[in-house]
Amino acid sequence: MDAVESAGSGGKFLNVGLLLVATIVAAKLISALIMPRSKKRLPPRVAAWPVLGGLVRFMKGPVVMLKEEYPKLGSVFTLNFLNKNITFLIGPEVSAHFFKAPESDLSQQEVYQFNVPTFGPGVVFDVDYTVRQEQFRFFTEALRVNKLKAYVDHMVVEAEEYFSKWGESGEVDLKYELEHLIILTASRCLLGEEVRNKLFDDVSALFHDLDSGMLPISVIFPYLPIPAHRRRDQARKKLSDIFAKIIASRKEAGTKANDLLQCFIDSKYKDGRPTSESEVTGLLIAALFAGQHTSSITSTWTGAYLLCNPKYMSTVLEEQKTIVQKHGNEVHYDVLAEMEVLYRCIKEALRLHPPLIMLLRSSHSDFTVKTKEGAEYDIPKGHIVATSPAFANRLPHIYKDPETYDPDRFAPGRDEDKAAGAFSYIAFGGGRHGCLGEPFAYLQIKTIWSHLLRNFEMELVSPFPEIDWNAMVVGVKGKVMVRYKRRALPLN
Ligand code: HEM
Repeated sequence: MDAVESAGSGGKFLNVGLLLVATIVAAKLISALIMPRSKKRLPPRVAAWPVLGGLVRFMKGPVVMLKEEYPKLGSVFTLNFLNKNITFLIGPEVSAHFFKAPESDLSQQEVYQFNVPTFGPGVVFDVDYTVRQEQFRFFTEALRVNKLKAYVDHMVVEAEEYFSKWGESGEVDLKYELEHLIILTASRCLLGEEVRNKLFDDVSALFHDLDSGMLPISVIFPYLPIPAHRRRDQARKKLSDIFAKIIASRKEAGTKANDLLQCFIDSKYKDGRPTSESEVTGLLIAALFAGQHTSSITSTWTGAYLLCNPKYMSTVLEEQKTIVQKHGNEVHYDVLAEMEVLYRCIKEALRLHPPLIMLLRSSHSDFTVKTKEGAEYDIPKGHIVATSPAFANRLPHIYKDPETYDPDRFAPGRDEDKAAGAFSYIAFGGGRHGCLGEPFAYLQIKTIWSHLLRNFEMELVSPFPEIDWNAMVVGVKGKVMVRYKRRALPLN
């Protein structure tokens, strides 16, 4: 090939290249002119490497990612996560739809599917929404005030019995102690006296296997054949057998107990069908998963904050003194209702440390949100939609000095959680799927702490606890060592 020929073929390539670029540009222009242009105003995107970048950002810790992105991108933004788009809605101004939308628009079923092998077949996220709604009605009925009053009596007995085993003085890991007390109380109130009195060790071991079978990897691959999942499945089966026997013997004896198990046995669907044994077991497991870690973590944070804040410790003690002077040592539902200072101390611990740090939905229809700055974004169907109690509960435009433990922020007159409207405080979620166990949780934690405050002087001897971000239900890292001395509450 001579130089002229070579230059000629180079020129041909150049011409073909130019033609190609011109064609693409023309095609883009034509499509922009004649094709209906998407009018969607999509939220800003988190900068991340393609494909795995979003996953890497998320795995560093979702709250770390939110802390980095919120100041840059604002209250609505999208993260590409594997082949999914997760759109975050942060703060009450943009999260109302998240909490209020009907299941047909924003559903829980797909995003919480990973619970199915743990809860078992035929319940909660394994059934369609109409059945799930009925099953949540069973929860609502089982947690009505008249039932809660009876549960409180069990809670009080359990707390008294448990702490009677502490010495005159000593040192304990508060986290371990409260976890155990809460398992015992949950057994009594939820699973019933058969389990509490005779089968406690067996059932606790099985629940432990169920719990250990719910790992971060289980969220993406709930059926991965790994030993933890195999033990989970065996435990689920054994629990099912145990509860089948208890249910059969209660039915045979015609006995009616005051516990969640009995409520679920007696529950009926709208068409008159009673719950099956397998459904009762599944609903009980769901109740324990919803309530156990969440409550024990909150009890521990409540204690850690009170023990480090003499000002609040003294107001909460004053409240106990006033109540003891009025009611004596008796504790029941109505007495607990008077513990408003203690309530605010628990609520503030929960604001700072909500154990469920991320709530998710799957979007089935497009929707629009408007930020407080006035920007409007269209969230397309197919996105996973998320909000974060751990992040949103510390927004500085909602809470004054949000990092500070200040239970009085909820006191009448300040009401910081109400100033910006609903969904400013989302430790218990809210709206359509708000926690059904919130009153139960407060009663349980108040019972425990009123007993401790009335009977012990305590001091935190380990450093203030850190957060265990790696847990599925985010709680306290390591031990929380407390030195205690038994004493009667000095009355004025
Ligand atoms: C401090 C303790 C607790 C915390 C922080 C807590 C938190 C939450 C949150 C954030 C949700 C909403 C989930 C979502 O929107 O995706 C929720 C739902 C739920 N919780 Fe709790 N929970 C607690 C205790 C309990 C207890 C003790 C029970 C039962 C005895 C319970 C039963 C439920 C149920 C059944 C739902 C589902 C409601 C629905 O989807 O309609 N929770 N909880």
